[in-house]
Amino acid sequence: MIETVLADSGKAWAAGDADGAFVILNEAYNRTLNARVGIRLAGLLHDCGHPDKALGVIAAIVVREPGNGFALAEYARILREKRLAADPEHRADIAAFKATVAAAWAALEADPMFLPSQFWRGIGDKHERMLTTQGLGNFKRTVGHNYQNWLLIDPADAQVARLAAIWGAKRYPQVALNTLELPDNAGFIWERHVPIYPLTDETARSVYAFAVGTLWEYVLENDHHGFLRDVAEETLGNPIALRRQGKLISQDHAHSARELNLLFDQLRLGRQDGFTILELGAGQGRLAEMLGKATNFRHFIVDIPPTIGVSQWYVSKLFGDDAVFKFRPFNDWREIEAELAGKRFAFFTPNQTRLFPAKSVDITINICSLMEMTPGQIAYFLGRIPEITRRAFYSRQWKNWQNPVDGNIVLKPDFAVPGWRPTYDRDDDVHPELFAQIWEPAAGA
Ligand SMILES: C[S@@+](CC[C@H](N)C(=O)[O-])C[C@H]1O[C@@H](n2cnc3c(N)ncnc32)[C@H](O)[C@@H]1O
Repeated sequence: MIETVLADSGKAWAAGDADGAFVILNEAYNRTLNARVGIRLAGLLHDCGHPDKALGVIAAIVVREPGNGFALAEYARILREKRLAADPEHRADIAAFKATVAAAWAALEADPMFLPSQFWRGIGDKHERMLTTQGLGNFKRTVGHNYQNWLLIDPADAQVARLAAIWGAKRYPQVALNTLELPDNAGFIWERHVPIYPLTDETARSVYAFAVGTLWEYVLENDHHGFLRDVAEETLGNPIALRRQGKLISQDHAHSARELNLLFDQLRLGRQDGFTILELGAGQGRLAEMLGKATNFRHFIVDIPPTIGVSQWYVSKLFGDDAVFKFRPFNDWREIEAELAGKRFAFFTPNQTRLFPAKSVDITINICSLMEMTPGQIAYFLGRIPEITRRAFYSRQWKNWQNPVDGNIVLKPDFAVPGWRPTYDRDDDVHPELFAQIWEPAAGA
């Protein structure tokens, strides 16, 4: 019966009928005083602009059931979001973020070939809601779970299963000694009508801590270039606090170090080689962060809204506004060339890659992003990358991916770079459904 109430109210809420959802939840809650129904009722009240009423409903649940962690977690989320809505710094951050996002949308609409797939438009809408209500400062618990800090909470997940096999072979003792905080509910809330951050669940948290802890030990063992050793996870962005001997560790940093070790090994790069990287679809800019701290490389990010608003905010906060060429529309490379030359980081929308001069970057990187674009965009970028890149293209993608919204299927051969040859081509060592490739110009190309 409770499941029916949750399902029916969820359907009404998702369809925009908040009044209908309220009637269902309120009636069932008054009749049963069921905590799950009460928490959902509070979520709806908060979502409709009544945070104090929502807090009142949850407070009553906590008094009746003092050990109900889900109720306290939701109480904390509502409190945080209420405080944040009145915080001038948050308001200023969101106003600047929205201005960047609006300008980026205008640039794409003027060159519609680059408008995101329907898949990413749907994700983008949810991301904007999470960022606006929970703040850019909480992004590592919200949108970051759609970048590379995946919610590894299901033992049947292919990556979790692979990490379990790695742990079985190595039995890293440190994984059992790591500690993970008990988070509140301010996190990845995919559907507004199911306001639950998955990591508030104890079993989910244990799987996540095990998987990320194992990944960290595995990468540390193979950290030839010292990226993981030398670069600490930032508290900026509020990562879920998984600690190893007191130090914050994260899936983001482990993957960045793993990818950069591979790239540096294969291309025989040194940390002071001063190369320029172009990263297409960069999430929060985790590779820009690690390269920015551990090397003298420059890093250009090409991304769509709203992600470009997140990465530009994060990288600017980490390295300072003076180091960053922020996204802006321009018509000719010569307009920006002199200014760009003095910047370590730069932000562009995908359409602006038309304006990049030939061979203007050393290495282009794309991690788990090309496949999520439209077929026309994938073809465009695979053709454009060798034109603007001098040395190599590093790509990590799904072997077989069906876009669940746009419906197109992308297979490994679809990621071939015309006129270049793969000099590295292997299955990903921690995710059996992904592969990694490095492409370099064929002789004479
Ligand atoms: C799954 S996330 C991966 C993020 C990042 N590469 C990482 O591994 O942390 C996909 C990325 O591709 C970007 N993206 C999606 N569609 C795009 C498009 N049409 N053009 C450029 N970037 C796009 C998203 O905004 C996001 O940054």
